[in-house]
Amino acid sequence: MRRKVIAGNWKMNKTPLETVEFLKKFIDLIKDVEHDIILCVPYIDLLVALELTKNTNIKIGAQNVHFKDSGAYTGEVSPKMLQDIGVEYVIIGHSERRAYYNETDESVNMKIKAALEHELKPIVCVGETLEQREVGVTKEFVTTQIRNALIGIDAKQMKKIIIAYEPIWAIGTGKTASKEDANEVCHWIREELHTLYGDVADEIIIQYGGSVKASNAKELFEMSDIDGGLVGGSSLEPEEFTRIIKF
Ligand code: 13P
Repeated sequence: MRRKVIAGNWKMNKTPLETVEFLKKFIDLIKDVEHDIILCVPYIDLLVALELTKNTNIKIGAQNVHFKDSGAYTGEVSPKMLQDIGVEYVIIGHSERRAYYNETDESVNMKIKAALEHELKPIVCVGETLEQREVGVTKEFVTTQIRNALIGIDAKQMKKIIIAYEPIWAIGTGKTASKEDANEVCHWIREELHTLYGDVADEIIIQYGGSVKASNAKELFEMSDIDGGLVGGSSLEPEEFTRIIKF
């Protein structure tokens, strides 16, 4: 049985002080939960989040990373820096970064490799647009994203990677994929991983993301190929996020 992994993606929300306020409540609310819990916070909140979640069941992640260790890349943060402060996870290739910051399958692939070199576990995001879904190319598009993202990644490295299937039309729209549609795409992703890595595919965590809330978490997370979620807006409130985690 694969474990369930529920990650919050705060996106560009919460100051360090607000992070402290959130964690003061949240740590207590989820202390007995057995699922894996990850909070991906803005860079500026990482240090305080790491400090406050020491000796708790919460892991901390970043939301992006550069592929170089250092250099003249104004405004960027390197995998070496994240590793140095004790960050464990990093979201790579979120659709918002692909859409607004020109991230491509190629840069996603470079970032995954750089993250792994620094012991960071990537949460790699894939997902189709509404237009792609409507013209019926979801399977082809998403499996191509997976193949391209994973070029040069071996099976041992693959075990450290989480895949998050996030249909773009469901992100921040309140429109959730049906549990059947979400599971179908997660299944296609797992089939692709089987082709690439054989039985290792059965161990890989594949999350669903896109308007996950307390009211739909259970039906989604109980599907055969959905191993938890990547939660945006609903991860900002400790009580709501806790209800999702305790689905
Ligand atoms: P929402 O849960 O706000 O739809 O965001 C999903 C997402 O993009 C998580 O990475």
